[in-house]
Amino acid sequence: MKRTPEPELMQIPSQVRAYADADFSKSDSMVVKSLEKYLKKVGRTLNKTDLILDIACGPGNIAQRIAKNWPYVNVVGIDGSKEMLNEAENKLSENLTNNLSYQLIEINSIATGEIHCPFKADVLVSNSALHHFHDPSRFWGALKKLGKTKCIHIHRDLIRPISAKKAFEIKEKHLSNSPKILKKDFHASLKASFTVDEVTHQLFDSGLSQLEVFQVDELYFEIIGCI
Ligand SMILES: C[S@@+](CC[C@H](N)C(=O)[O-])C[C@H]1O[C@@H](n2cnc3c(N)ncnc32)[C@H](O)[C@@H]1O
Repeated sequence: MKRTPEPELMQIPSQVRAYADADFSKSDSMVVKSLEKYLKKVGRTLNKTDLILDIACGPGNIAQRIAKNWPYVNVVGIDGSKEMLNEAENKLSENLTNNLSYQLIEINSIATGEIHCPFKADVLVSNSALHHFHDPSRFWGALKKLGKTKCIHIHRDLIRPISAKKAFEIKEKHLSNSPKILKKDFHASLKASFTVDEVTHQLFDSGLSQLEVFQVDELYFEIIGCI
């Protein structure tokens, strides 16, 4: 199936609310688990001078999990949608996480140099972010600017199904009882996503081929490594 990009930023109030209210806890926890597993594998520990950036953090569910798991490490979530960050800030005050903050940053502007890169991270994570970018090289370009040398990368995203029929089936299977707007967005995301082969080429073209990309299950691939 040919890729159909979707709007980059998620700003429509009903869309933002439906996304923020949805339960993605199973998938969200996988990002934390993958980071834990990778740190163990390479024998690295995180300390209080380290910075973890959650790229395109949305309502902050994953950034919060990370901040709770590593309470002595600084965690910053960045997103270009004020509406999403409002949701993240609201959840933050409910949960009193004091090592977590959010910044409104449009990520293409970092890649193009329109805005100066405000951080250098020790760990970069993202979930369901890459497929939002109309030009994926901008995503990878921004990440190169945002990471320190030997930065750890954990990125997770949807895999584009082979056909429109399959995309429809996957949507019905995984979001059967969800609100209509969430199902519509999920379907659009499946159509906007990349295949593992496409991501492999993107990483090569961006000079990031040291990162490993692999299929996790029917829905997701992960990209893991250190550059
Ligand atoms: C599907 S949500 C994922 C949110 C979060 N990572 C999660 O897994 O719950 C995609 C997020 O990417 C953000 N986004 C998309 N394109 C962006 C860009 N160019 N700059 C900054 N944020 C962007 C959207 O605003 C949205 O919050």
